Parts: sequence; structure tokens; C-alpha cells
Amino acid sequence: MNDEITIAVSKGRILEEALPLLERVDVRPLENPGTSRKLIFQTNHPGMKLIIIRAVDVPTYVLNGCADLGIAGKDVLMEYESDNLYEPLDLKIASCRLMSAGRKDTAGTGGRLRVATKYVTTTRNYFAEKGQQVEIIKLYGSMELAPALGLSDQIVDLVNTGNTLRANGLIPFENIAEISSRLIVNKAAMKMKQDIIKPFIKKLSEVIDR
Ligand code: ATP
Ligand code: PRP
Repeated sequence: MNDEITIAVSKGRILEEALPLLERVDVRPLENPGTSRKLIFQTNHPGMKLIIIRAVDVPTYVLNGCADLGIAGKDVLMEYESDNLYEPLDLKIASCRLMSAGRKDTAGTGGRLRVATKYVTTTRNYFAEKGQQVEIIKLYGSMELAPALGLSDQIVDLVNTGNTLRANGLIPFENIAEISSRLIVNKAAMKMKQDIIKPFIKKLSEVIDR
């Protein structure tokens, strides 16, 4: 049996919070992912490596078994919509909310809304559940710009401090989901490598901030 473990970690702000968490369970990359151009990092455990990739790609690597474990935002997992991943732990890092937002003067207007977002599936599901037909405009970032320039009436995006909304003249409307990063596990790996993965999950669960 291959008892090597690969953990896929979202780069960016999740990585910044995930590294201290991994450190608390005694997992440290041998090189600094913040400064290295490498994508694969050996750790202080010879059988354990990290791959550092874009947030949206983490579920794909884990689902395909190229990584056994992953650390990804709930926003990304909701959008990915896979029943074939275990999600055993809320790591309680990179916490924020997925919200609808818009200009104050468009709040509560009826009719067919234009909603700009990178979370197309989640947004469609959310408005469908409310029985509201919306036109979704797919963007890849800086959603806050869309209402200001008239591209959309609302946006669906992540909100933490609310600074980005305020700086762009927007107000939050509705809370769609509480977001934090989750540990995800490949189903086959959970079975085949349970002697390593189960104790690792237990150790992690003991150091998560409650
Ligand atoms: P990429 O750079 O690959 O396009 P991204 O811009 O979504 O991705 P980040 O901004 O680092 O990358 O966000 C990665 C994850 O961090 C998100 O999926 C979400 O779970 C979390 N996140 C994003 N913004 C915030 C925020 N303002 N506060 C807390 N967590 C956040
Ligand atoms: C995220 C998100 C919001 C902002 C919210 O963007 O897309 O724009 O954070 O945080 P706040 O409420 O604390 O202002 P990020 O900074 O990651 O930029 P990007 O997604 O455009 O890369």
C-alpha cells in the first residue's frame, strides 16, 4: 500500500491561516511556500507532502485522488457541488460570509434582477429557492465594481469586514452562507489510508480554535 499522504492547500489567504494550523499538528513544509515558486512541498514528515494550488482547483485534485486531503473554502465546495468528497472538519479559518449586496437605492426593487458573481451555481440555487428569476452575470473577481458601473443590480460575493462593499458604495443585503475552510478527504484514500488519515483528522480536530 502507498502510505504517502498528499494534502492540497488553497493558496492565498487560506494558506496563510492553514500553515499555522498544520504547524500545530507538527506538519511543516521544508521550504517557505510564501517565497518559493514550487508547487509541491516536502514536509518534516517524509511521507507527507503539500501541494499549493488555486482555491477552485483543490476539490478537483482531491476528487481525482491526486491529493488525499484538501483544505478549501466552503464557498468553493458549495460551488463544486460534489457528493463524492468527505468533509469531516470545519477548520474555522478564513471565515467570512457569502452575501448578496448592491447599491442602497436598488434594494428591494422587484423584477428580474441582474446578479454579478463568480459563484454562478450557488447564486442560481439561492435565488431559485426564493422563487426569484435572476439573470446571472459571470465574473472572475472584483464583483463590487459591477453595480457601480451598471453591469448588474446586485452581486453575490464574500464579505468579511465589509470594507470592500463600503469602499465601493454597496450595502449588504442577505446572508447566503457562513463560510470557513474545510478539510476534505478523497473517499478511497479514507478507506485505504485510514491508519494515517484518521489519526491526522483527530489531531487536527483537537487544535481547531473553538
Ligand atoms: P484566486 O486568487 O485563485 O482567484 P481567490 O481570489 O478566491 O482565488 P483568495 O482571495 O485567497 O483567492 O480566497 C480564497 C478563499 O479564501 C476563498 O475561497 C474563501 O473561502 C476565503 N476568503 C476569501 N475572501 C475572504 C475574506 N475577505 N475573508 C475571509 N476569507 C476569505
Ligand atoms: C475578497 C472578496 C471581497 C473581499 C471581502 O476579495 O471577494 O472582495 O475579500 O472582504 P472584506 O469584507 O473584508 O472587504 P479578495 O481580497 O480576496 O480579493 P480577490 O477575490 O479580488 O482576489
